[in-house]
Amino acid sequence: MSVLSRIYVKILFKKFKKLEKINFFYRNLGSKKSFSVFIRDRSVNKNFKFSKYSFSPHNPLTGPPNAIKWICENYHAVFDYLDVNPPKSLLEIGCGFGLSTWIMNDSTKKKAVGLDKNKEAIYNAKTLFPEVNFICDDFKSFFKKNPKAFFDVIVASNGPVRIRKKYSKFDKNGLEIDTTKKDKILNEKILSHCNTFIQVGYRAKTFKQFISWEHKASSKHLSFSTSLVNGKNRGISLKYFKYYLTYDYLNKLLHSFANRYYPPF
Ligand SMILES: C[S@@+](CC[C@H](N)C(=O)[O-])C[C@H]1O[C@@H](n2cnc3c(N)ncnc32)[C@H](O)[C@@H]1O
Repeated sequence: MSVLSRIYVKILFKKFKKLEKINFFYRNLGSKKSFSVFIRDRSVNKNFKFSKYSFSPHNPLTGPPNAIKWICENYHAVFDYLDVNPPKSLLEIGCGFGLSTWIMNDSTKKKAVGLDKNKEAIYNAKTLFPEVNFICDDFKSFFKKNPKAFFDVIVASNGPVRIRKKYSKFDKNGLEIDTTKKDKILNEKILSHCNTFIQVGYRAKTFKQFISWEHKASSKHLSFSTSLVNGKNRGISLKYFKYYLTYDYLNKLLHSFANRYYPPF
């Protein structure tokens, strides 16, 4: 880690009280090396298989230092929130290889649950992080089988569930073609399974979305990419502007230019 990135991490990542793995594996001196050694030790003699999906930036097996950076940066506002508001129970939908759920597991007394429909991701998650409860299923079928499942907090980062002020569909040229009630009902059903839903994702596809935040939920906005929906809190969090100074913001800004989204705002 360069001197500059070390200073950056120390200033922008507070010392976590509950989510201590961030201190050990991202914030402290030598932390990324410690994370690589930790993953190496947990992977010895395990029967991993590789596919195209294995090379996703959030897979700790194919690139431990990149994966810990990716997760800590993407989930920064979620981690800050959970560290001071520990949930009674937590489900992550679309947990991928489980690194984020493993970090959030320290915020709750009950075992956190990570849910993903990808078999390889869940096999890796269960093998690397046995202290967390992982389930391989589609989130719709999970709630169909468990209609009474209820969590204090549900988190979904860049995953399949997204709550919006306005539900829209776009054609391949990015033009709005339909406003769908079905998506609204499907996505908002998640709120009957939790007290608080936290979503991460930033993509505004039209100027109207960019200006009026139609692509975000009516909620409390923790950062440019992260919103908290609980039917009570609204507005912008005090820390909202801090996240404009992050590596994640720069990364998403460049991503928006490259992929013709409106910049994160
Ligand atoms: C883009 S990855 C995001 C991974 C991680 N949350 C992150 O932010 O880096 C989306 C994940 O959602 C999972 N997923 C997509 N649709 C799903 C569904 N219907 N039910 C459960 N998981 C799903 C995919 O398998 C994938 O691992």
